[in-house]
Amino acid sequence: MALLEVRDVTLRFGGIVALDGVSFGVEEGHISGLIGPNGAGKTTAFNVITRLYKPDSGEVTLEGKSILRQPAYRIVGKGIARTFQNIQLFKTMSVLENVLIGAHGRGRKVGEMEAFEVLDFVGLRDRAHSPAAALPYGIQKRVELARALVAKPRLLLLDEPAGGLNHEEVAELGVFIQRIRDDFALTVLLVEHHMNLVMSISDHVNVLSFGRTIADGPPAQVQADPAVIEAYLGSDDDDDEPPATAPVEPDPPTEGDEA
Ligand SMILES: Nc1ncnc2c1ncn2[C@@H]1O[C@H](COP(=O)(O)OP(=O)(O)O)[C@@H](O)[C@H]1O
Ligand SMILES: [Mg+2]
Repeated sequence: MALLEVRDVTLRFGGIVALDGVSFGVEEGHISGLIGPNGAGKTTAFNVITRLYKPDSGEVTLEGKSILRQPAYRIVGKGIARTFQNIQLFKTMSVLENVLIGAHGRGRKVGEMEAFEVLDFVGLRDRAHSPAAALPYGIQKRVELARALVAKPRLLLLDEPAGGLNHEEVAELGVFIQRIRDDFALTVLLVEHHMNLVMSISDHVNVLSFGRTIADGPPAQVQADPAVIEAYLGSDDDDDEPPATAPVEPDPPTEGDEA
């Protein structure tokens, strides 16, 4: 049984069918990629899994148990934590206070100890008392990651963690996500536009296009799938790179090339 199962999930916003019978599973201990052109429904899928949105139909289970009957505030306690495509920090609070929100429910003392451990892990202990809003974008992304990790999730959802990072930082992030999976013994569901990153670290890749699952499998298989190549070539968004053909080589250093 997969740790997370999304089964036949449909969600409409007025006339837009953001998710149109989407199904995929995420195996425990895997890094699973969730890719697709802009507007494919990836963030919406995260919002359904974290109960921010209620699907019109379908089921989402964690370890076989439905999470759709859980209110959103229970989701972290069930073992699911996330970061956001557009950073969602409490801007007037310090880094430490933001991370402590992720440790909510553990008691002040334990929470603070764990928050500092995680700040060490992401290399931000010395920024603990800086106001979150004053920090550069890349650092704010690490604060969000720390807030998610301190909740000790079993399943970590990362929504475009490489967005806004330069090539060197993207390469480091790939190694870092693998370290997170190993050190925290968790499962990762990764939404990302940087194909080299997704393809090089994912055990399995799911592809969405216009709210539908169009492919899933090991990275090499997905990259060679004509439906996937077609979905990316048919997309008119500059943000979307078509999947590079296997084998995956590291990106050449290109100045100013960001997602
Ligand atoms: N809250 C919302 N209200 C209306 N439409 C939305 C909302 N959230 C997402 N959508 C629409 O749903 C579709 C999927 O969006 P999204 O999940 O953000 O795509 P992705 O993350 O794959 O780029 C898009 O057409 C988007 O405009
Ligand atoms: Mg998105």
